Order: sequence, then C-alpha cells, then structure tokens
Amino acid sequence: MHASKMLALCIVLATSASWAAAPSGDKGDPLKLKGDAKKGEEVYEVCSGCHLASGIGRPDGSLPVVSAQHANVLVKQMVDIRSGHRDNPTMLPFAQSMSAQEMADAAAYMHTLKLSAKNGKGSGKNVKRGKELYEKDCKSCHGAGGEGDEAKFIPMLTGQHFKYMQRQLDEMRAGKRKNADKDMLKVIKPYSDADIEAVSDYMARLPIAKKK
Ligand code: HEC
Ligand code: HEC
Repeated sequence: MHASKMLALCIVLATSASWAAAPSGDKGDPLKLKGDAKKGEEVYEVCSGCHLASGIGRPDGSLPVVSAQHANVLVKQMVDIRSGHRDNPTMLPFAQSMSAQEMADAAAYMHTLKLSAKNGKGSGKNVKRGKELYEKDCKSCHGAGGEGDEAKFIPMLTGQHFKYMQRQLDEMRAGKRKNADKDMLKVIKPYSDADIEAVSDYMARLPIAKKK
C-alpha cells in the first residue's frame, strides 16, 4: 500500500471509528436522490473550512470553485472521491462521512452559490492561442461559453481558477486523475505545457453568465 493511502486510511479510522455501522457514510447512490439546498447548507458548514463559505476556493489552484457548478457534476466528483476513483486524500474522510442524501443536498446547495469574476487568471499572453485550441478541441463537449452539460456530467468551466484547471489538465495528461473522460484524454494527450497554459487561461477568462 502507498504511504499516502495508508495515511488517508489512518485519518479515516481516526475520524470515524466505525463508519461501516454509522448512519452516515453509506455507499448509496446520491445521483438517484433529489438534493435539498436548504439542508445542504448545514452539510456544507464543515466543507467551508477548505472550500470557503463562498465556494470560490483559492486562486492558487489548490481548491476549485465549487459554486454554481452543475449539481450532478458535483455529486459525481464526490462519489469518485469517496471510492478513490479520483485521488483526493485530503478530502477523502469528508467524502466518506457523508450519507448519499447529504451528498445530494450539499451539491444542491453549492449549485446555488454565485461565481466570482475575480477567479484566478493566467498571464493573458496566450489567450488567442487558447481560444483556437478551445474551439477546436473542447467546445464540442464543454460548450461555447464553458457552460458544460449537466445531463452528460460535463463540468462548467466558466469562473474556474486558471491554476486549478492547469493542474487538472496536467494531472489528467499524466494519467493521475483516474476518473478523467476517455475521449477528453485522447484530445489532451499530445498537448504541450504551453498548450495547457494557453487553453486554461482562455477558459478562466470566459464571461460569467448571469443566473436566471
Ligand atoms: C480538508 C480540505 C477539504 C474539505 C474539508 C473538503 N474538501 Fe472538497 N476538495 C478538497 C480539495 C483539495 C479538492 C480538489 C482536489 C483536486 O485538486 O483534485 C476538493 C474537491 C471537491 C469537489 C470536486 C470539485 C470539482 O470541480 O471537481 C467537490 C464537489 C467537493 N470537494 C465537495 C466537498 C464537500 C461537499 C465537502 C464537505 C462535506 C468538502 N468538499 C470538504 C478539499 C476539501
Ligand atoms: C468528449 C468530451 C470532452 C472533451 C472533448 C473535453 N472534455 Fe474536459 N471534461 C469532460 C468530462 C466528462 C469531464 C469530467 C470528468 C470527470 O468526471 O471527472 C471533463 C473535465 C474537465 C476539466 C476538469 C474540471 C473540474 O472541475 O475538475 C477540465 C479543466 C477540462 N475538462 C478541460 C477541457 C479542455 C481544456 C478540453 C479541450 C482541450 C476538454 N476539456 C475537452 C469532457 C470533455
């Protein structure tokens, strides 16, 4: 076993002595449940320690913007984190301590939070190149405005931090994000670091749509 996995396991065991028997932390499928944003606000309290009350995370890319994201995208990511399909040792114990209903509720709540135009941006020097790449390789799935596709679990990228997206693309290309989309992987495999930088900066600058 990896040292990091071992450490994560220790944290899990220390924080929830017997999560198998506990009422929360069940392995049910939250995608089958309807989320309640009001209840989700309470669930989210513990999350705000890292993700902030605003859901905006950090421009340094360590924490993504979770605000306004499609609820089913958020749920899928939490399920993947819970199962280890997306490696996230820092958050693992929190993902494992939520019940399926709590996950659905938290996602519904995060979806109600607002985006900020002050998300982290790149140098601005290669945005034109980024736009070309985006329109050729990414638009068909993530949408012209970066709006994503709720029904297909495709994340909205508008308002996301430049450094977070750059890091995700880098990790996906290196095969380190196990839950990455297979068709997307084919597209980004040949990308250079400069391509990743350019497309991430373009996406970080996509205008934030006003919420209806
Ligand atoms: C100890 C810090 C920490 C806590 C507490 C935490 N998270 Fe996270 N979470 C992270 C990190 C770090 C990432 C990004 C991991 C990466 O870069 O791959 C993340 C990612 C996510 C994502 C995926 C977002 C995306 O765009 O793909 C969701 C959804 C999420 N967290 C929800 C929650 C919820 C709900 C809670 C509370 C029950 C919570 N988190 C508590 C650290 C934390
Ligand atoms: C075939 C459809 C498809 C194409 C093409 C595609 N993506 Fe994706 N992308 C996805 C899906 C689906 C996910 C979510 C994967 C998961 O569940 O973890 C994703 C995730 C991402 C993420 C991570 C978002 C987050 O919140 O963690 C980024 C960044 C991203 N895509 C950027 C791009 C860029 C840049 C391109 C073009 C170079 C691209 N994608 C092309 C389908 C696609």
